[in-house]
Amino acid sequence: MYLQKQMAHKRMGSETNVTKKLFIKSYGCQMNVYDADRMSDVLRPLGYALVETPDDANLVILNTCHIREKAAEKVYSELGRLNIQKKVRESQGEQMILAVGGCVAQAEGEEIIRRAPYVDMVFGPQTYHKLPEMVARAHRGTDTVLETDFPAESKFDHLPTPEIKEGYSAFLTIQEGCDKFCTFCVVPYTRGAEYSRPAAAVLDEAKRLAGMGAREITLLGQNVNAFHGDAPDGGEWGLGRMIEEVAKIDGIDRIRYTTSYPAEVDDALIEAHRDIEALMPFLHLPVQSGSDRVLQGMNRRHGVDEYRRLVDKLRHARPDIALSSDFIVGFPGESDRDFDCTLGLVREIGFVQAYSFKYSPRPGTPAAAHELQIDEQVKSDRLSTLQELLNTQQRAFNEDCVERTFGVLLDGRGRLDGQLIGRSPYMQAVHVDADSDLLGQIVELDIISAHGNSLGGQLAKTESDLSERAIA
Ligand code: 5AD
Ligand code: SF4
Repeated sequence: MYLQKQMAHKRMGSETNVTKKLFIKSYGCQMNVYDADRMSDVLRPLGYALVETPDDANLVILNTCHIREKAAEKVYSELGRLNIQKKVRESQGEQMILAVGGCVAQAEGEEIIRRAPYVDMVFGPQTYHKLPEMVARAHRGTDTVLETDFPAESKFDHLPTPEIKEGYSAFLTIQEGCDKFCTFCVVPYTRGAEYSRPAAAVLDEAKRLAGMGAREITLLGQNVNAFHGDAPDGGEWGLGRMIEEVAKIDGIDRIRYTTSYPAEVDDALIEAHRDIEALMPFLHLPVQSGSDRVLQGMNRRHGVDEYRRLVDKLRHARPDIALSSDFIVGFPGESDRDFDCTLGLVREIGFVQAYSFKYSPRPGTPAAAHELQIDEQVKSDRLSTLQELLNTQQRAFNEDCVERTFGVLLDGRGRLDGQLIGRSPYMQAVHVDADSDLLGQIVELDIISAHGNSLGGQLAKTESDLSERAIA
């Protein structure tokens, strides 16, 4: 096995200028998708180019997520499958470096090496800038590379300027990590402390995205409201000010941000919703539960009333704002009554969309050690009750959109010939029969049909269409 590794090394060593194939599979959130692009940026100067399948890749990275149950198990079964391919490649004298990055790598570290000793590299989310060095070590092939420290310096200071891909809707990470320590959540342990990128770096990246055709930018952060980037004027900008500046960039017509932590939504951000037209009237504002008792157990730092007041303020600032949320059911100690409070809050706020999950104990988090774990069947029953309600509300909202006219950014082709798809201001997918010349444009669509998860539209009649019809 070791000999084979050496042979493969020699063969690849003589191919330094030849393109090597890199396959990255990302699990979980949008931040992982953004990270995958940064990994490929770092590896490009080494000759690595992205490919669509792991089949003949020289380097395979599983970019993992640890937020909920089964994530780690999925990674182990994927590794088992990849190991078969790796062995075949090695028998042909080729090397396939197998790497696990992301939050499972951070959380499980040595455990991955123990259970899957054939893995060549295990590295946490804060170490991507060291990938070239890790790959060189993996090439030498002596032992497994393990990098799960939280370096004192931010990886952003060491990553190359992002290679901007063409696209009409782009993500831009402005903040990472979390210090809130909700008792159910692994993020503070896997992603580390809160960090904000300097405002100038954010603006630079946003301008370059606009230069490559982006009309919409989604600002990303694990707790994006905690953003406080060093500002060019020597002070700091919060999220509201950052959005204001991004909105001034030529070509950027739509701004979104995610994910929000309610207790850190400040007045400047609420004013941004009032004043900045480009800031879309749709906000993902996870409440997690409608019971104060549960929220306290979760260490959420907001009660139900604070959440209500925040929603009132947001609606006052931007009356057409629509809200979405995350919910956890079956948090330790959650009673039927607590759960009823969640259902009540869903109706009261009128969430138009939401993600909901059964509580899953994450090793090392406080809630995992709680005595009053909830029975799986109870969790499943609560989840289906909640999802039924959420689906009903989502459908009702979608139906209310019929006969309205929305500006839709058409950013892709639909499944059917001649069909384009895009997003409404409220993040609904909208299908329309339209010429592909309209790709990348924000067009006015009359909504003509509603489905569970999407809308159907047709190009809105322009004034000239209407006057032509009047003449006819
Ligand atoms: N169990 C279930 N859901 C969780 N989430 C985070 N941690 C857990 C967990 N241990 C959910 C929260 C969060 C979303 C990203 O994932 O609702 O907002
Ligand atoms: Fe996790 Fe969000 Fe809580 Fe931070 S604020 S600990 S990321 S749930």
